[in-house]
Amino acid sequence: MNYPDIAILNQRFGTPGRIAFRAGEAGLPIAALVNKAGSCEVSLYGGHVLGYRPTGHGPVLFLSKHSLFEPGKPIRGGVPICWPWFGPHPDDKAQPVHGFARLNQWELRATEYTSETTELRLALTDSELTRRVWPYAFELTLRVWLDDKLNLELTTENRDARPFTFTQGFHPYFLVRDIAAVAVHGLANAPFVNRLTGEHGRQEGALVIGAETDRLYTPPEPRCALLDAGLKRTLALAFSGTDKMVVWNPWIEKARAMKDFGDDEYTRMLCLEPANAGEAAVTLAPGQRHALTLSVQATLA
Ligand code: BG6
Repeated sequence: MNYPDIAILNQRFGTPGRIAFRAGEAGLPIAALVNKAGSCEVSLYGGHVLGYRPTGHGPVLFLSKHSLFEPGKPIRGGVPICWPWFGPHPDDKAQPVHGFARLNQWELRATEYTSETTELRLALTDSELTRRVWPYAFELTLRVWLDDKLNLELTTENRDARPFTFTQGFHPYFLVRDIAAVAVHGLANAPFVNRLTGEHGRQEGALVIGAETDRLYTPPEPRCALLDAGLKRTLALAFSGTDKMVVWNPWIEKARAMKDFGDDEYTRMLCLEPANAGEAAVTLAPGQRHALTLSVQATLA
């Protein structure tokens, strides 16, 4: 894979103290954004937020020590972008799980900053390669910006002459001290589909994780809070563009089976994933756009 020149990226898009580029693991170009409330790092490969640290806090996102940083392989942790399908391809199991957006180099479009915010804009457009697996013209843009939160906005534009339907999701891995001391609030009474069994259920009270969990929730409001008693930290999530959120923890057996994930790392993470999956799939007519957003704000107890 050809990576853009870091010196040129810094020259064209960098601002000392606010936006800088460096070669990360395996040479992947990484953008570091800073404002007074925090910092974050974004890999141009995958349009993938790797880390977020609000000022005065520890890291908010989990990144596996075993993650691969190889073209053609997803990064394990941070915020993968799942697009244009979420989960396995609907009818071709040979296609990569969660689509191809997290497996491609994104183009850097712009950086911006004010006294309060720092922002990066990336884009992915169709190519001969993408049209082979998904035969549509599209433009996908990702805005990542820091204010007192980490904010993401993923916009899909249909640039084809035909309508298309897609599924997608932000797949953030949140770092926790110990999964046994974590609760997700905001899901009480929410219906869910257990993606492991296909069974339907309804959440009673706060969600605690004590087994492999892979559920598609319809929360009553497009927000939730992750309370971590170990870190004495609350992460408040708010999203728009879907009414669905996936909750995922691989637990013991699946953790062992994943080559790019430590056997014990399931105790240190929880994925809360605003997703247009299942009946929240999106159909766009030619020229139409759809935006999925997520914001994450950390507070210490
Ligand atoms: C979750 C899915 O979003 O991602 C799970 O609900 C899946 O079914 C998990 O196992 C991880 O996927 P991957 O492809 O990153 O290992």
